Amino acid sequence: MLNDIEEVLYSEEQIQAKVKELGEVISRDYEGRNPLVICVLKGAFMFLSDLVKRIEVPLEVDFMAVSSYGNSTKSSGVVKIIKDLDVTVEGRDVLIVEDIIDSGLTLSYLVDVLERRNALSVKIVTLFDKPARRTVGLEADYKGFVLPDAFVVGYGLDYAEKYRNLPFIGVLKEAVYS
Ligand code: PRP
Ligand code: MN
Ligand code: MG
Repeated sequence: MLNDIEEVLYSEEQIQAKVKELGEVISRDYEGRNPLVICVLKGAFMFLSDLVKRIEVPLEVDFMAVSSYGNSTKSSGVVKIIKDLDVTVEGRDVLIVEDIIDSGLTLSYLVDVLERRNALSVKIVTLFDKPARRTVGLEADYKGFVLPDAFVVGYGLDYAEKYRNLPFIGVLKEAVYS
């Protein structure tokens, strides 16, 4: 598996330091509140579990799985809910946790859904951001690292469902996917 990685972009230590930093900022911003923290499956599972350990306000965690469909790319902009939340978001301060924002389509859809369900507030935290790929105007409220437009895997991010378990993020060798 490690042989498939061209280059490590951010090490486990660098990621953990950033997660701690994000947790501190979020803890300050949400002081006195009880946010509902939503993990966007599957990619965000690792970031979610590390991040909530660094947030020092009482919170609840719930999970949502979404998928784009129509064709294999995301250009259709159609997003489908595969697994919905177990709880209602009405009146809640919602914090969406994502691993990466690429085109922005997944999150613009999710934010819209949660606002229509009358969440009190909806904010986004993403560990990675690829602004060069954005097709809709969407910015995270909290973000970790800006990535180049390369094929990256690890720390939750997959290629064909593999590599999610790598503790770092790296560039996949072209030979693996071409
Ligand atoms: C990836 C990633 C984000 C989304 C970002 O998820 O985890 O959720 O794509 O892309 P976008 O900004 O262009 O919408 P994916 O759909 O691959 O599912 P996964 O999390 O299960 O891997
Ligand atoms: Mn995802
Ligand atoms: Mg994926």
